[in-house]
Amino acid sequence: MRYTVPKLTDFSTAALDSAAVELLSALTEEANAVHNEPEWKAFRDRWIARTNGVLTQLNDLWLKAAPKEAKRETGICVNDLKAKVANRVKETLAALQFAGTLGQDDQWQAQLLRPDRSPVSFHTGFIYDAPSVVWPAPLDITLPGIRRPIGVEHPVIKTMNEIVGVFRNLGYSVEEGPEIETDYYNFEALNFPPNHPARDTQDTLFIAGQESKPLRDRLLLRTHTSPVQIRTMQKMKPPVRVVCPGKVHRNDAPDATHSPIFHQVEGLAVDTNITFCDLKGTLDHAMKALFGSSVKTRFYPSFFPFTEPSADVQISCIFCDGKGVRDGAPCRNCKASGWIELLGCGMVDPNVYGFVDYDPAKVSGFAFGMGVERIAILKYGVDDIQLFFQGDVRFLEQFG
Ligand code: PHE
Repeated sequence: MRYTVPKLTDFSTAALDSAAVELLSALTEEANAVHNEPEWKAFRDRWIARTNGVLTQLNDLWLKAAPKEAKRETGICVNDLKAKVANRVKETLAALQFAGTLGQDDQWQAQLLRPDRSPVSFHTGFIYDAPSVVWPAPLDITLPGIRRPIGVEHPVIKTMNEIVGVFRNLGYSVEEGPEIETDYYNFEALNFPPNHPARDTQDTLFIAGQESKPLRDRLLLRTHTSPVQIRTMQKMKPPVRVVCPGKVHRNDAPDATHSPIFHQVEGLAVDTNITFCDLKGTLDHAMKALFGSSVKTRFYPSFFPFTEPSADVQISCIFCDGKGVRDGAPCRNCKASGWIELLGCGMVDPNVYGFVDYDPAKVSGFAFGMGVERIAILKYGVDDIQLFFQGDVRFLEQFG
């Protein structure tokens, strides 16, 4: 039976109380029967619509009908009921919304998206008014949220990106290759013949169980990023200008300056008429971009099987300004020489072009490779390469 507002004849406190209890229990019953938005709308209109809603009838049938001496008490009772009804109507909607029922309703969505009422303010209203059944008591949604700290770039990645950035600004593009390589790409195509002693300098980690394969197909962890030179030249015709950042592996025991895993950035430029001058100018610019414009570079003869001629690039010591002496004592960073060796480079050996179908009579080029950790150590004054791999937040957060 739907509740109808009774005409009151008895306006005593006891009679008002029992009439109010009856109304409230009907209110609860009808509120509990609301399961969707249309039902809620009907419920709302039945109770609080201006024309003929239950509240309006309370005015007419109770308040106006009350005798003078009972007016005050009836007024208090009616006002109390009005507040309770209005609150219950709101609570019912909030409960529906939090139960997710209305979220799927198109009209509800339209309501939320109304331009004059942002979903946020709409929700905030509910949050403050929400009934305790919706918000369990211990939960205080007015407290600030949990802040999750945003991480920072790892110093090795940061340095690698910086190096790559310098060359991107010169028009180089970025190429990557696999960390597990074949003997062919890591050595043979780079002009390291089988059994050549230069292979020994690379302290290679081989993948086990490869003996049944021909040597060139056997897998290993790449010892340098130079195989990406070959992979790039196989898929691109000159002109080529690429940098190849990545992880490399060598069978080195970890200590303050060695790690079995480290990173390199390789560079390769092949075109017509590329000379050693281009190589010098490019690397001199790159070192100045990385370490500051006062840094000088020096090219020192060296050997790599895939470059001819080859050089080690040294920069003037950034700790003693190339003087070899710091605070009256021999500079420890450059062993008092004033120079720090930083990377390997050279003109691409014509033999290498033979492996990738480039014509050595038509093209020439240079290549270089640098260790990222080594550069990071110098740039940031880190004294132990192991710090990069230990994941100690106290170390890492300094690079934020
Ligand atoms: N790949 C060499 C190394 O890891 C460095 C290098 C790269 C030298 C390119 C010359 C040209 O030692």
